[in-house]
Amino acid sequence: MTPAQAVMELERGYLLQNYARYPMVIKRGKGCWLYDLNNRRYLDLISGIGVNSLGHAHPRIMRVMKEQISLLIHSSNLYYHEYQGPLAKKLCETSGLQRVFFCNSGTEAVECALKMAHGHGRKRSPEKYEIVALENSFHGRTVGALSITGQPKYRSEFEPLMPGVKFVNPGDPAAFEAAVSERTAAIFVETIQGEGGIYPMSAEWLRKARELADRYDALLVFDEIQCGIGRPGTHFAYQLHQPAILPDVVTMAKPIACGLPLGAVVSNERAAASIAPGMHGSTFGGGALACRVALEFYDILDELLPQMKRVSEYFFAGLRSLQSKHSIIREVRGFGLMIGVEIEFPCRHFVAQGMNDGLLFNVTHDNVVRMLPPYIITEKEVDRALKGLDKIFKNGKPA
Ligand SMILES: Cc1ncc(COP(=O)(O)O)c(C=O)c1O
Repeated sequence: MTPAQAVMELERGYLLQNYARYPMVIKRGKGCWLYDLNNRRYLDLISGIGVNSLGHAHPRIMRVMKEQISLLIHSSNLYYHEYQGPLAKKLCETSGLQRVFFCNSGTEAVECALKMAHGHGRKRSPEKYEIVALENSFHGRTVGALSITGQPKYRSEFEPLMPGVKFVNPGDPAAFEAAVSERTAAIFVETIQGEGGIYPMSAEWLRKARELADRYDALLVFDEIQCGIGRPGTHFAYQLHQPAILPDVVTMAKPIACGLPLGAVVSNERAAASIAPGMHGSTFGGGALACRVALEFYDILDELLPQMKRVSEYFFAGLRSLQSKHSIIREVRGFGLMIGVEIEFPCRHFVAQGMNDGLLFNVTHDNVVRMLPPYIITEKEVDRALKGLDKIFKNGKPA
């Protein structure tokens, strides 16, 4: 048995069998590259599903981590530490909102936003508890977040879920208008649908959501857990449009602490007023180590945004030229470093071909090659990715 087989065998014996992992054991990472047990390297175009925002072993992140580990990792929310306040200030300044709650993951951020929605509704009327959410959305795996996830494949085994949720098709503005009413406590929108296949919501659609939320005194919640904090080329995807369409609440998580678990909910005062002392909390949320790393991430992000914009344009131009060469590519879409390439047929087999060629990406929605590379990716690395993708697209359907 090889060392990699031993790792997989042991897991098969003891882990909950909820993941269908690829047969690869990762040992270490450096920059945009990951190395397996045999020291074979792979260009990481998926970055832990959007989490390793600054790649692996970033020198500045390692430096603050080492320093902070020796000072304080966690102290709970019973006491203050030095890093929640400055990080919250940055999140407010960059989002245009006013109050922050820290948690540990995306789904927990969505749970907090749901409690804000219900608190907001209950203050106004016992009838105001409905949530309007979108078909094809993904908001997480906990019961609340699952209840507003508009993809039956994730929900069906667990129903009945939270009542009062109405799903609307993002392509049907009339149905959207009909679904929102005085009973609506909140509208939840992924500004760019990620798991659903990299579908950006149009500015027109987001404006309609804002207008309906205002008309019926509902909260507008943007879930930017996958598309947020720098990935779209701006801090938040709702800032891609001019004038920006401001939500009442935005949820975020993945890239913020460069691989450490940290999530956040940022809201305006109106939404924040729905949570009184004791109504919500988290033991781990907003620990000193995670917050300090996130502060460093934020500083680095400010310096990186111009480079990200340049590399993103280069990547999209390269993919569009592959599209003109390979008729199997239906569409190239996304913003910044959140990229989807829609293929005419189910293409999960591309993932294994990529791995054989030293490229890591995944396929979502059966036929969308999804890439969420680290923000530090260079043109040279993009060239390497395009070369590999060219070969994969040429191979086409499995034999
Ligand atoms: C838009 C969106 N919301 C919520 C989640 C759930 O995040 P987590 O897996 O950290 O709970 C995800 C995860 O992919 C996501 O993409």
